[in-house]
Amino acid sequence: MRRASSVERGDLLTVGASRAAERLTAPGDRRNGHEVEDTTAMAIRGDAAGQAFALPTDPEPEMGAAAPRLDPARARMRRLPDPKPLTQHGPARIIAMCNQKGGVGKTTSTINLGAALVEYGRKVLLIDLDPQGALSVGLGVPAQNLDRTIYNALMERRTSLKDVRVSTDIPGLDLVPSNIDLSAAEVQLVSEVAREQTLLRILADVRDDYDYILIDCQPSLGLLTVNALTAAQGVIIPLECEFFSLRGVALLVDTIDKVKERLNPSLEIDGILATMYDTRTVHCREVFSRVVEAFGDTVFQTVITRTVRFPETTVAGQPITTWAPTSSGASAYRDLAKEVLAL
Ligand SMILES: Nc1ncnc2c1ncn2[C@@H]1O[C@H](COP(=O)(O)OP(=O)(O)O)[C@@H](O)[C@H]1O
Ligand SMILES: [Mg+2]
Repeated sequence: MRRASSVERGDLLTVGASRAAERLTAPGDRRNGHEVEDTTAMAIRGDAAGQAFALPTDPEPEMGAAAPRLDPARARMRRLPDPKPLTQHGPARIIAMCNQKGGVGKTTSTINLGAALVEYGRKVLLIDLDPQGALSVGLGVPAQNLDRTIYNALMERRTSLKDVRVSTDIPGLDLVPSNIDLSAAEVQLVSEVAREQTLLRILADVRDDYDYILIDCQPSLGLLTVNALTAAQGVIIPLECEFFSLRGVALLVDTIDKVKERLNPSLEIDGILATMYDTRTVHCREVFSRVVEAFGDTVFQTVITRTVRFPETTVAGQPITTWAPTSSGASAYRDLAKEVLAL
């Protein structure tokens, strides 16, 4: 399993500012076989944390023909193996889609990775573990009106996930919906016995019915997210290619390490997924290069480009793979599915 060492990760945040400055401004520096622009003068913020990341002083994002040539994501792309057909289903690999930052593409990635896995013949269950219920809405399920949701399965011993799951318009793709009721669970779970293992325990009822169970986490590192990390074998970290995203990742990786140590030794980071990628901006490419430098092969080669097609799909209540099946967004999530299937 691909995994960044703590040394690599430590490098992400603790490398001295002067070294970072050197690395960022060295003329003719070559990375991934590509010339890195030496024109990008970087300002280093010399704050006490000694952060490694420099903010570009270049006020204008670079546009035009030069951009794809310097695209660090494209430079990493290799041919992906075609997924093998399955002869039987289950037990599922459980993956938590996790990042305590909001608006980074967790829900979008859960829906579309799920739908893409289904296209490759896998049976998939999506679990909405966010009281906002965006996953449910994004699949056209009006969860706010439902009497029984994930909340009931978590809190009531007589309610099973089988009672609360619903099928979606896509055959092979099921959903455990959530709504605002779930916000009470965070508080109520605190007094439960084995509170961190609650989700793991209830998943046992449905695990054999699926090949993948994807858990859409809420933007926090609270008890619900710890439940997701305790139940999961893998974590996918959707990461917006933006400067402030990077600091949060170190904290998330630390939390994942703690859960692995104390609650779930088999937990692995399946991959970091760059989202809202915009090849035209120097900043985005720079952030992506830093993430690859720090996490190496743990970063998926697939990147999800920023496009208005994704907000459109939420309104449509469908995955992009059915809403705009030939779009680049749909094919990106199919590529991600291939990478996940190859793990
Ligand atoms: N690649 C993308 N390009 C443009 N907009 C996106 C992309 N991915 C997600 N979005 C939009 O950004 C917003 C936040 O995404 P979402 O998946 O809900 O994030 P999270 O679950 O991490 O809060 C949504 O409106 C979504 O439609
Ligand atoms: Mg979300």
